[in-house]
Amino acid sequence: MPKAIRIDAYGGPEVLKLVEVDVPKPEAGEVRIRQHAVGLNFIDIYYRTGLYKGSLPSGLGFEGAGVVDAVGPRVKHLKVGDRVAYGQSPLGAYAEVRNVPAAQVVRLPDGISFEEGAAIMLKGLTAQYLFRQTYRLQGNETILFHAAAGGVGLIACQWAKALGVKLIGTASTPEKAALAKANGAWAVIDYSKENVVERVIELTKGKKVPVVYDGVGKDTWETSLDCLQQRGLMVSFGNASGPVTGVNLGILAQKGSLFVTRPMVGHHVNTLEKMQAAADDLFALVLAKKIKVRIEQRFRLENIGEAHEALATRKTTGSTVLTLD
Ligand SMILES: NC(=O)c1ccc[n+]([C@@H]2O[C@H](COP(=O)([O-])OP(=O)(O)OC[C@H]3O[C@@H](n4cnc5c(N)ncnc54)[C@H](OP(=O)(O)O)[C@@H]3O)[C@@H](O)[C@H]2O)c1
Repeated sequence: MPKAIRIDAYGGPEVLKLVEVDVPKPEAGEVRIRQHAVGLNFIDIYYRTGLYKGSLPSGLGFEGAGVVDAVGPRVKHLKVGDRVAYGQSPLGAYAEVRNVPAAQVVRLPDGISFEEGAAIMLKGLTAQYLFRQTYRLQGNETILFHAAAGGVGLIACQWAKALGVKLIGTASTPEKAALAKANGAWAVIDYSKENVVERVIELTKGKKVPVVYDGVGKDTWETSLDCLQQRGLMVSFGNASGPVTGVNLGILAQKGSLFVTRPMVGHHVNTLEKMQAAADDLFALVLAKKIKVRIEQRFRLENIGEAHEALATRKTTGSTVLTLD
């Protein structure tokens, strides 16, 4: 029987259990995928610890790639044998075989491997909506992007460069700063040592930035607001350091009539058409080699606990994939 990861309780990496599962035939609107690689994402940690709650017992993971091995009724765009990937499935991507709603699955172009597909679908679709939908960058902006050496971060650095945007990244070590720079960041601030607001003011010659993309959350919230121009946009899209809570709206007035949004990728790709359009945008940049997929760590499915530990303790850079072959 195929193997998968299950959790019966919220907690540390020890709650991740490898089990055997019976995968039924796909229902209407579903495809069954024999997976070759699975993507690891910070959101998986929120679902493991219970910061975000599903129902228990539960699978984990949103992102994977493999081959369609069965097709349920009423699926039009996929057939058995198709190479596919997805980044917004129901919980349960940490599995050798699984059923996924077909509307969330796209065909993987020939030039993109299964590992690459699993490494970029969730993170790359996130960069897509952040840069092309939430605040549509035009190419002449200077922006601030936190955790620039991370999974979403290294894709964002390359995407910004491709758009002609000057991305100021933040990172917690000199090695991570160098990696972000090598991937297209215009400048990188080591936020473990440097004063981010002062550096942003210096780098922008006093202008500050029109938009901040902040996946770090609690630790950077106020710093991010202080880096924004009047009427700028704060895009708070994650909680790597903990969630932002208890915000007094008046702070947005005090700091310059700011706008704030707390977006999620799922709301931007909630139909097959939107998913396909965003994926096409992403795949085009990968195939044109403007975005190189940076898989910096690989773990076997059974070593998922180690993978979670590494991501949670800031030991990873770029994308991490779970290998199944
Ligand atoms: N809303 C959405 O649609 C959406 C979609 C995808 C991802 N996200 C969010 O985007 C962020 C990045 O996701 P990812 O999967 O690519 O992860 P990641 O960036 O590879 O890993 C998180 C990074 O956050 C930084 N960080 C800062 N404070 C931290 C702390 N206290 N603990 C752990 N890490 C800390 C670390 O980089 P440094 O060591 O350089 O600080 C770490 O490497 C996450 O917050 C995630 O939830 C949101």
